[in-house]
Order: sequence, then structure tokens, then C-alpha cells
Amino acid sequence: MSFNASSNRLRIVIAASEAVPFSKTGGLADVAGALVKSLGQLGHDVVLIIPDYFPMRRSANGIPPVDETGIQVTIRMKDRPVTATVNWSAIPGTEARVLLVRQPEYFDRRQPYGDGNGGFQDNCERFCFFSRVVPEICRQMVLRPDIIHCNDWQTGLIPALLNSQYAGTSGFARTATVMTIHNMAYQGRFWHFDMPLTGMPWRYFNHHQMESWNELNLLKTGLAFADQITTVSPTYAEEICTPDGGYGLDPVLRDRHADLTGILNGIDDVAWNPETDPLLPTGYTLDTRRAGKSRCKAHLQHRMQLPCFDEVPVIGMVSRMVDQKGFDLVMESAERLLNRNVQMVFLGTGDPYYEQMVRNLANRFPEQVAAQIGFDESLAHQIEAGADLFLMPSRFEPCGLNQMYSLRYGTVPVVRKVGGLADSVVHYDGQLASLETANGFVFTDYSVAAFAETVERALETLENETVWDRLIRNGMTRDWSWTGSAGHYLDVYRRALERVSDRRFEGRV
Ligand code: ADP
Ligand code: GLC
Repeated sequence: MSFNASSNRLRIVIAASEAVPFSKTGGLADVAGALVKSLGQLGHDVVLIIPDYFPMRRSANGIPPVDETGIQVTIRMKDRPVTATVNWSAIPGTEARVLLVRQPEYFDRRQPYGDGNGGFQDNCERFCFFSRVVPEICRQMVLRPDIIHCNDWQTGLIPALLNSQYAGTSGFARTATVMTIHNMAYQGRFWHFDMPLTGMPWRYFNHHQMESWNELNLLKTGLAFADQITTVSPTYAEEICTPDGGYGLDPVLRDRHADLTGILNGIDDVAWNPETDPLLPTGYTLDTRRAGKSRCKAHLQHRMQLPCFDEVPVIGMVSRMVDQKGFDLVMESAERLLNRNVQMVFLGTGDPYYEQMVRNLANRFPEQVAAQIGFDESLAHQIEAGADLFLMPSRFEPCGLNQMYSLRYGTVPVVRKVGGLADSVVHYDGQLASLETANGFVFTDYSVAAFAETVERALETLENETVWDRLIRNGMTRDWSWTGSAGHYLDVYRRALERVSDRRFEGRV
């Protein structure tokens, strides 16, 4: 079969462990929600399947009604049957259906993956269950998907199930799987005695399929069995094939290099539109950005209890507080940067060590630094709009969405040259020629000196109104929407479908 994905309506099931507006801890949720929308707008029949973290959903805003489907799925988890009910809802503004897997014991939690004490003890069981429910839902609801698109380790078991117990069964004969890596640092590694939770026979627990360093590895499982693999930026696709970026799985990725594609995430340009954003005190466009941003800045300073001075540059950061994000560079440079007349605003949650460091900084410099520890959607939008500079000095960054949000909101990003940051931020090197495309500041070495110098250069450039205006214009006018990226996913789906037709019912080994 030769499939022309661009001219055929595909039946696509996307499985993810979080998606806006139902649940969110980071970029995966934004991507899952927006990709579903965008593929739907391109005319495809899309169903998103996610766990129902009921307490989280109940406290989220803008959730459409959730109705019962009447479908129940029972899976044998080791020696006990566990049942989920399947409810359905929609992504606002689209026809795409969302199926919510409700299993109170596993998913009625305020956080999807863990609490202050680390990951939940039963994560392997919870997400093996979720992964096993997905094909069962497809079967019971007769979805007959062309593609099951899996995201991160929480859904890594699905391609293995499709290639073993579901191979050639009714409704799946032509189903291809795609595995997207959002972050190699999280692999879903569990001790080998968890293998029975997967429902896969022990013979798959080998170095080519589900095992890595004597452990069960659910991301590796997905990479070994999926028909195609993607990750969320072209640069990250190269980085993860090296020992530095591969976190032990680089040999697997080198082996499957021909099936690996890097596709830069887009942004949901309805949710993240400075003109219509309901979370801002005022909307603004490219033409009205001066007045608009200055009002947003005053509002932010007031909200964060900082002195309200328009001429003082505000440096913002919104981030999970984990090693990946470069908080150590920011903390070690902070005093040097605060010698200047600047303010810093932090929003984040994560590692208690970084949370405390940021709190301490705010306590030491109450006139210049404000921090909110926690998750706050409205403040995230208000920082993107009200800040002058946005920091992302990541150690590694598969894609990163905040730099694209800040570019769209006319806030100039300072980023490290890694992953998707390298693919979206163009450095201003002080030369006139670079102003054609430059939209931010980029440094390479992971060092306090390189980071602090780059922020200082950005602050000096800010004083040159013409240059600064041009950087903002370049950022605000580039198309960051999902349309292009969704087209690249369709190409990948086509390749995956071609592989299925070649494979017949044998399964990838
Ligand atoms: P990652 O997925 O690695 O956390 P991304 O840049 O891809 O990084 O996406 C992070 C997403 O999570 C963005 O939408 C960002 O605004 C949001 N976010 C992160 N931390 C917070 C927070 N504390 N409060 C609100 N939104 C947050
Ligand atoms: C991960 C990555 C981030 C990426 C996001 C969405 O959480 O850390 O860089 O933008 O997934 O793909």
C-alpha cells in the first residue's frame, strides 16, 4: 500500500499522559492539546486519549463538559483485574474527541507523576495500565486507527503491544505506531520484576526490546517497536544520538536513525496570542506593543509587589525547577546582574533545592526580585507579556515552548544554544547584518561567565531603541503556529504506514 497522507483523511489516535486544558505539568500538555487541534483542522479524524486526573481536572479552567461513553475496560494487572471507565469530552474550539481514562486508584491525584517526595511508587503500574487500556479502547469503540501516536515513556508500551498481542487482530491490521520523545532524561525505568505489569511475555525482556541495563525501560520499548520515531526539534534529534544527549539510549537511536525525525513544536496561537489573551490586563499587537507591554509590565510589577518603574528592565523566567533548566547558572549570576538597575521575576515549581534558592534570592533582594513557587497559568502569561527579557539557559532543551511564547509576546529571549532553543532563537551579534533575522541572544558554553555576559549584552542592547524594536519585530512576526509542524507529522505518519504495509503481521524484532 502506498499512502498519501496529505490527501487522505487519517484516523489518528494520540496517547499522552497530560494535555491542556485537562491537565498540565509542562510542555507535553501544550503540545498534545495543540497537535490534536491542528491535525483536526487539517481534516483528519483525531482522538486524544489521556488519563483522567480527576482532582486536577476539577480545578482547571475552561474544561468542556465530560460525558460517559458507557465503555469500561478491564485489564489484568499481575493477578488482579483493574477496571477503568472511559469518559469523553472535547478540545475547546475543535471537533477532536478526548477520551479520559478514569481509574480512581491510579489517577485521582493532584499531580500526574509524583509529589515533593519524588515519583509515585506505582508509576510503572499506573502507566502500564494506561498503555494497555489504549488499544482496548480502540478495539471496543471500533476506532480502527491508521496511526497511534505515542508520547514519552508513559505510552512507550503501546507500540510493543501493537506488535505482539494485537498484531494482525481485527481493527489493527493496518495500524502504524509513532513514538515521540519529548525528553530523553525521563525514560520510565523500573526493576525487572515489574515486567508482568506490561502484559508482555518475558521473552521480550532482552537488550533489543524492553530491557536496558537489567531494568525494564518503557521509553526504550517504544523506540524499539514504533514504526517511526520523532522528537521535538531537529537539533535535539541529532543530540540524542550522541552519548551526551542519549542518556544511555543513543545506541538504540543510532540504530534507528533512518526512522528518526526532528520536528519543532509549534505553539497554540489562539491560547498564546497577545492581542486576545484574556489573562493579560490588556491585549496588544505589533503596532500597539509599546503601550500594551508597558501596561502589562506595571501590572506584573504590582502583582509581584515590586516597585513600579517602567524604565527598569524586568527579566522573567517561568520553568519547572529542575537541573535541566539551568537554575544554577541563574542563581550564581544573580548578584552580578542585580548590581544593575534590573528586576527579576520567577515562577516555577519542582526540586525543593532550587525552590529554596529562588526564595532566598527574593528574600535577600525584595526590591528587585520576586518569586512565586507553584503552578500558575495566569502569571505565566503575564510574565511572558510584562517582562523585557526571558531566560532559558537550559543544560539541554528538547524543544522549549516558553522561548516561542516570549518571542510572540515581544519579550526577547536569552537562551543556550541547545535543542529547540538553537532552532528557534537567532542570536543578535551586534552587527547590522544579523538584524535581518535576529530575535534574541544565544550563548554556547554552560558557564556562569557566558550566561552573565550574554544577559549583560542584552541589557545594553535594550538601551538602543531601534535595535531592540527590530529584535521584537523579528520575533513577533515569525509564524510559530502548528500548521507547518503538523504537516511534518503527516509525512511521518505516511512513512509509518508504508512500513506497516511492508511488515505484514510479523512484528518488528
Ligand atoms: P518543559 O516541558 O520542559 O517544562 P516547555 O518550555 O516545553 O518546558 O514547556 C513548559 C510549559 O509549562 C510552558 O507552557 C510554561 O508556561 C509552563 N509552565 C512551566 N512552569 C510553570 C508554572 N510554574 N506555572 C505555570 N506554567 C508553567
Ligand atoms: C519536554 C521538554 C521540552 C519540550 C516539551 C514539549 O518537556 O523538556 O523542551 O518543549 O517536552 O515537547
